[in-house]
Amino acid sequence: MQLDSGERGREIWGSRLGFVLAAAGSAIGLGNVWRFPYLAGQNGGAAFVFIYLAIVLLIGLPVMMAEVGLGRFTRRNPVGAFAKIVPQSGWRMVGVLGVITGFAILSYYSVVAGWTLRYLVKAATGAFTSLTDPGQTGALFEQTVGDIQTVLTFHALFMVLTVAVVIGGVRQGIERWTLILMPALFLLLLLLVLRSVTLEGASKGIAFYLNPDFSEVTGATFLAALGQAFFSLSLGMGAMITYGSYLSEREDAVIATASVSLFDTLAAFLAGLAIFPALFTVEGAEPTQGAGLAFVVLPAIFHRIPFGGLFGTVFFVLLAVAALTSAISLLEVCVAYLTDEKGWTRKMACCLVGVVSFVLGIPAALSTGASTFLSRLPLVHMGFLDLMDTIFGNVALTLGALLLCLFVGWRWLPEDALTGTMEGSAYPRLAHVWLFLIRYLCPLAIGAILLQTLIKLLLSG
Ligand code: PHE
Repeated sequence: MQLDSGERGREIWGSRLGFVLAAAGSAIGLGNVWRFPYLAGQNGGAAFVFIYLAIVLLIGLPVMMAEVGLGRFTRRNPVGAFAKIVPQSGWRMVGVLGVITGFAILSYYSVVAGWTLRYLVKAATGAFTSLTDPGQTGALFEQTVGDIQTVLTFHALFMVLTVAVVIGGVRQGIERWTLILMPALFLLLLLLVLRSVTLEGASKGIAFYLNPDFSEVTGATFLAALGQAFFSLSLGMGAMITYGSYLSEREDAVIATASVSLFDTLAAFLAGLAIFPALFTVEGAEPTQGAGLAFVVLPAIFHRIPFGGLFGTVFFVLLAVAALTSAISLLEVCVAYLTDEKGWTRKMACCLVGVVSFVLGIPAALSTGASTFLSRLPLVHMGFLDLMDTIFGNVALTLGALLLCLFVGWRWLPEDALTGTMEGSAYPRLAHVWLFLIRYLCPLAIGAILLQTLIKLLLSG
């Protein structure tokens, strides 16, 4: 079957690089530097890291290929993509779930990105280097997230930046920047790793991160790793369907998705390797401390590097840009849906989603310090930000990915699914491996992990 160019003559990336840059920009973000290390810390360290790597390879990569293939074949936004293949069916609700999930993730993502902007300013004004002891970075974090006015200001600033980029359609420009900024981020991460592993007492952290103890692994570890893989690779909510819809059929989607997954995983791995060795040398810092981990440990490394203030500033600038290119994709999914399917103007869709998402982010911003109620909600015993992240950043993405596997593996004609994903590929032999993974292994593994969590929840409730 021939691929058409969409009703509105959809634009196509000029080259494979255009897709790889946009998709890597979406994938690499706070998920790698902020979320991955803190989840690894809470879930036993090295065992989590190994399970995570296996999941990326066996589940994340095939699911990414499926999303990109679906987008490329249909040339539609996530809701339209399902509807084009099976019109008038409930499947389009999977796309709708993705839109809601993207919007909800954006709300608290922007809060954490706001912390990043705040840290950028702190680094530039010498806050890290003027500490007398690396152990004080914990207090610095508490003070930052507790200052509600500043946190909300930076949350608003980040949301405005995201909205401005998506309205202005200057995406192309931003994506070209990724070509320079992303390697720079990798270089700085490498520098941090070098400093971190050479600190006195680093071996404890290296062992925690790389020497697995599988005896403590539970179903919760698998769910955390699975959810993190989807979060980090931007899967389960349609971002990759959207980006795939701009990918030319002449390009090799297998190579493109494999490169994106590789870069993304490398960035997360390096972030962990920078954080854990240093963590164990900082007094009072615990691997299990949660969402503040990166913000407590990274300044402690900059504190012990010559020109730490300068490197710290550059690092947080790069992290903020990485967060921006991810937030763009979260917003883009919602905007593409509202403009394509509901006929809204781009400007109106961007502004409305931005404002509502900002408002939904407010309780998340308050939950990390300023409000005792929101920081420990009754019944769920977690803060509002953690709750949002668990529901949307983990469960909803996992459910979305499961439904996508069932759709692509069983509802879509295998010939068409193979055309969408494998056309233009230099590795047609991989087609059957991919089809097997997407039909059997992925849905069974994801389903089993979700079910197990659900049963445990019901039993404990
Ligand atoms: N992958 C992004 C990150 O790691 C976050 C994201 C999740 C973006 C889901 C789009 C969709 O920071």
